[in-house]
Amino acid sequence: MAIRVIFLSCVFFLVSNVVSMDLYKDPKMDVEVRIVDVLQKMTLAEKVGQMTQIDLTVTDPSVMKDYNIGSVLNGGGTVPEGNTVTAWQNMIDKFQSGALATRLQIPMIYGVDAVHGHNNVHEATIFPHNVGLGCTRDPELLKRIGEATALEVRATGIPYVFAPCIATCRDPRWGRCYESYSESTDLVRNMTDFIFGLQGEPANKTAGVPFVADSSKVAACAKHYVGDGGTMRGIDEANTVIDYESLVKIHMAPYVDSIAKGVSTIMVSYSSWNGVKMHANEYLVTQVLKNELKFQGFLISDWEALDRITTPWGANYTYSVQASINAGIDMVMVPYNYTIFISELTRLVESGYIKMDRINDAVTRILRVKFMMGLFEQPFADKSYSDYLGCQAHRVIAREAARKSLVLLKNGKEAGKPLLPLSKNASRILVAGSHADDIGRQCGGWTISWQGAAGSTTKGTTILEAVKNTVSAESQVIYESDPEAGFAKSQGADYAIVVVGEPPYAEYEGDNLNLTIPAEGVHTIHNVCSEVKCVVILISGRPLVIEPYLPMMDALVAAWLPGSEGAGITDVIFGDEEFVGVLSRNWFKTVDQLPMNVGDKHYDPLFPYGFGLKMGTALGN
Ligand code: GLC
Repeated sequence: MAIRVIFLSCVFFLVSNVVSMDLYKDPKMDVEVRIVDVLQKMTLAEKVGQMTQIDLTVTDPSVMKDYNIGSVLNGGGTVPEGNTVTAWQNMIDKFQSGALATRLQIPMIYGVDAVHGHNNVHEATIFPHNVGLGCTRDPELLKRIGEATALEVRATGIPYVFAPCIATCRDPRWGRCYESYSESTDLVRNMTDFIFGLQGEPANKTAGVPFVADSSKVAACAKHYVGDGGTMRGIDEANTVIDYESLVKIHMAPYVDSIAKGVSTIMVSYSSWNGVKMHANEYLVTQVLKNELKFQGFLISDWEALDRITTPWGANYTYSVQASINAGIDMVMVPYNYTIFISELTRLVESGYIKMDRINDAVTRILRVKFMMGLFEQPFADKSYSDYLGCQAHRVIAREAARKSLVLLKNGKEAGKPLLPLSKNASRILVAGSHADDIGRQCGGWTISWQGAAGSTTKGTTILEAVKNTVSAESQVIYESDPEAGFAKSQGADYAIVVVGEPPYAEYEGDNLNLTIPAEGVHTIHNVCSEVKCVVILISGRPLVIEPYLPMMDALVAAWLPGSEGAGITDVIFGDEEFVGVLSRNWFKTVDQLPMNVGDKHYDPLFPYGFGLKMGTALGN
């Protein structure tokens, strides 16, 4: 009997000491052990705090501490004063100090939209948007872009990005179509290698387990689950009406690849599937993603997405919190009214409408990502990465990507008389168009500000600057943004480069039912191409109505949204490099045909999916 008493007292002593020990703080312990250890110590308030993501404009160290906030973000365009690397590092560390002042010292994770480079920060490298990257057909290039992006994001002390967007855009009238790699699911699936660039590639691929190799990498976010690119008439955040088999085949397949590649988080879509809001869809979010596909990372809501579950906006918020958390959302991008979210969620748990098991599942997943990526060990900015922001090596990659994303659609009006490659030794060269000397327009949306903007918004090389840097010293380059009739002829130019296209836009601001080239661009095409030989470089997030103007053009290049390195375009049109890009989406004749994708019975494009000429091709279309 005495031995039994001694034995039991030893066990009690061990357990009580183990429980009081902070096993979760020991990086040598298995991640799952660390999760169990800290989870059992957490109060409901601490758990709910971990599920709360708030915007930088509403937080400070005391808010972080008092509400146990697990995550902070900045919406497109909100940046720390000065928008410099140091300003970002100091801000992240300030918020982190608040998180580490909590009882259990769980670090917060800061997330940012780095969707074509670290597009928030002045002087960061801006890569082509995804519609152009899809035209490269080059997953290895995408991996290098991901690696460069991770380093530039880490330069600012941030460990988490809301990228890649793996939407399969089925209708170019959607304002976010340029964020999609392609209309083809298979091409989007191939492009998910971008995740390896951001996070690193796990040696032993355990599908579904989140993976971030080290502090030079960042946690990724595959978005927006599921069917965001399939809404009716491309209306952003609207309703995707298709059967389950088509939803899986067209829109869900890239998530299978992303989960297999160790993506750490998945963002749920604002849109609905057959009338059911994705943020309230327990079957697709929990049954499919978590139970069938075994996704082990965390699911994050979109910005204020809970408020959009009901109409009018924010009506019956209590229901929205209950429906979304019970559907399987783990972290909520509130991002402003966090006190209301926290009190509603707490009340719903305490009253039994949301089970503690659901909360524990959410917090387990959030902690799994934080432990796995070493955030507990390295919660603060690592200043050794500072010099990567906008570095020359990354600009070289961006220039390569811009070059490889270009698609040559026409080259020459007559057989055997191609216009491209252009002569570098021409005596007089006219450069015209609204987008010829405008870094903001060539980068597009999600650049410095949410919507992007025209003008000298960040560091880079405009197409005009690239032309001047390419041609011989004897050549005279004349620039006129929107020449009147007669001007081009009066200049006696050997040829003209006309750069026109869409203004920058993002999300629903870019929804567009007519997809015409803005009038100024049409005006320039008419006035220049009717008077001198011209190549038109089209800067756009998607195919536009071009057929009526095609006969006027001697050559036409789709440049999409090429980013900060305009030299990628001159590398090709002056013949130093060949065109390699082919269309990532078919080019319609008229918008009446839309939606129109490969395989549709009414498929009758002006330029088909996969089309792309090489220079020297006798006759353009
Ligand atoms: C936006 C977008 C999403 C982005 C998030 C945070 O509304 O839908 O892609 O990551 O909010 O900016």
